[in-house]
Amino acid sequence: MLAMDPRPVGVFDSGVGGLTVLHECLVTMPNEDFVYLGDHARLPYGPRPLEEIRRFAREIGAYLSQQDVKLVLVACNAATSAALPRLQEELSVPVVGVIAPEAHAAVQATRNRHVGLLATAATVDAGRYDELVHALDAGISFHPVACPLLVPLIEGDDPYGEETERAAREYAAPLQAKGVDTVILGCTHYPLIRKIFERVFGRDVSLVFSAEETAREVAETLARKGVENERGREGVYRFLTTGDPAAFRELGRRFLQLPVREVEHVTVATLEEAAA
Ligand code: DGL
Repeated sequence: MLAMDPRPVGVFDSGVGGLTVLHECLVTMPNEDFVYLGDHARLPYGPRPLEEIRRFAREIGAYLSQQDVKLVLVACNAATSAALPRLQEELSVPVVGVIAPEAHAAVQATRNRHVGLLATAATVDAGRYDELVHALDAGISFHPVACPLLVPLIEGDDPYGEETERAAREYAAPLQAKGVDTVILGCTHYPLIRKIFERVFGRDVSLVFSAEETAREVAETLARKGVENERGREGVYRFLTTGDPAAFRELGRRFLQLPVREVEHVTVATLEEAAA
């Protein structure tokens, strides 16, 4: 008989960005349950020191473990950059992050070997993409650009507005000047404004997103470890936020484009206690 594990998969991000990854997971693993935590009270993570982001990620990892999840998916590039190895050391369940799958996809996609990265300041500073891209192809010219305005704009009132488009154009310009043919969107928030990036970069540039590859990695991990849920059942998903549940529901519905039913509030103090 096949092993079966009814525990949910835990997913977290600073805000709604990780919903891009959650969506792929829901499509790839429709039989699994998911619990998603958005740390809105402390968003954005990107401008913070890596040390602080690591602390937040460890608190959330500990909290999700207490919720009896069977795998933790770090659906945030900043948190993956700052804390993935540490979480893997500390937690007893498997921990999957978002950076390695994109680095791999970018190396495969580029033809002229000029690759750009758009990400938060924390992710650029951590340098994980440089390392991974160069581990796979040391001859690639790698061009990272920090985009501090994008996460607040995407979480704001007018994510698809002119201000967002202007910011995207500004961040894209140095990459276009370098002649990159592949751009990693190294923040899980960025696929939420995918259409803006597609318009800014045009057809000749391949845009690399993490969601699909990451969902595949989660599915493979569950399968190899023999902890999948029963096949044929329909999984459920629920949400937690350290911010305002009503605001999360609103934004979550807009971006996930699926019903967002249960949104519970969890305090930052509760997360801190989990890691204490
Ligand atoms: N979605 C997070 C990431 O992938 C955004 C970080 C932030 O809050 O600045 O990096």
